[in-house]
Amino acid sequence: MTDNKAQPIFSIRNVKKSFGDSRVLKGVSFDVFPQEILAVLGPSGCGKSILLKMMIGLIEPDSGEILFEGKRVSDMTLPEKTELRRRVGMVFQYGALFDSMPVRDNVKYGLREHYANALSEKEKEDRVRGALAVVGLAGTEDLLPSSLSGGMKKRVGVARTIACRPEVVLYDEPTMGLDPINTTRIGHLVRALAREMDITSVMVTHDMKLAFEAADRIVVINEGLVVGVGPPSYIQSHTDPRVKGFVEGQDPEWTEEDERLYGVS
Ligand SMILES: Nc1ncnc2c1ncn2[C@@H]1O[C@H](COP(=O)(O)OP(=O)(O)OP(=O)(O)O)[C@@H](O)[C@H]1O
Ligand SMILES: [Mg+2]
Repeated sequence: MTDNKAQPIFSIRNVKKSFGDSRVLKGVSFDVFPQEILAVLGPSGCGKSILLKMMIGLIEPDSGEILFEGKRVSDMTLPEKTELRRRVGMVFQYGALFDSMPVRDNVKYGLREHYANALSEKEKEDRVRGALAVVGLAGTEDLLPSSLSGGMKKRVGVARTIACRPEVVLYDEPTMGLDPINTTRIGHLVRALAREMDITSVMVTHDMKLAFEAADRIVVINEGLVVGVGPPSYIQSHTDPRVKGFVEGQDPEWTEEDERLYGVS
């Protein structure tokens, strides 16, 4: 999938970010190439969500730069940033669903923001129906988020993003809190969207199973720095102790009991 001769869509160059005395990103660099699925893997609190927010101009780096198609995101005007956010959709870590709104209105939310007058109400309804069908939730328009499982809520979040037909999707922990079966399902969905809708995907996660199953390339961040970049097979056999330690570490959210329960060998 990855064509390294292609121009990167995003270039992250020596990005640094601190909060008070806490140096979160200490000079992170990597590229995102058209149509690849890139996983950014790193422990909790290492700055993954911050990185994604910087990519769509919601947060400024302290230094370094983020280029979208060669243009610095921090130099973009407000209309350019709005256009960037239409072309680059984000699936937020906590879903960001409105509990009081049925699935239909939750999915329509992004369309209202980006296509307020450009699409008729009928076209918006069609987009909602289409996006829900793509994520395997056809017919759930009238349900409230509270009646959905965790995995279904994540997929509503994905539907909301893809209804806007973005070229790039940034997924923030798309499998957080899901069991291995639903994790695999989300991995398949990310791959299917990438293939069928030509979507470039950046997935930040601490879920190694997801990264190894779904990504074309993996960037490993540890202690504020990129410590490994490459295809899953390369990362899996990486000899650097900072990569090895993370890759071989136990995911604290999963116990042997969970694995037995869900039939993971
Ligand atoms: N607005 C903020 N003000 C102060 N500190 C912040 C702010 N946003 C993030 N941080 C801190 O920056 C660090 C990185 O945050 P971030 O949310 O990017 O981590 P993460 O890698 O996404 O973690 P997780 O896997 O738990 O989602 C954390 O220690 C967090 O407390
Ligand atoms: Mg996060």
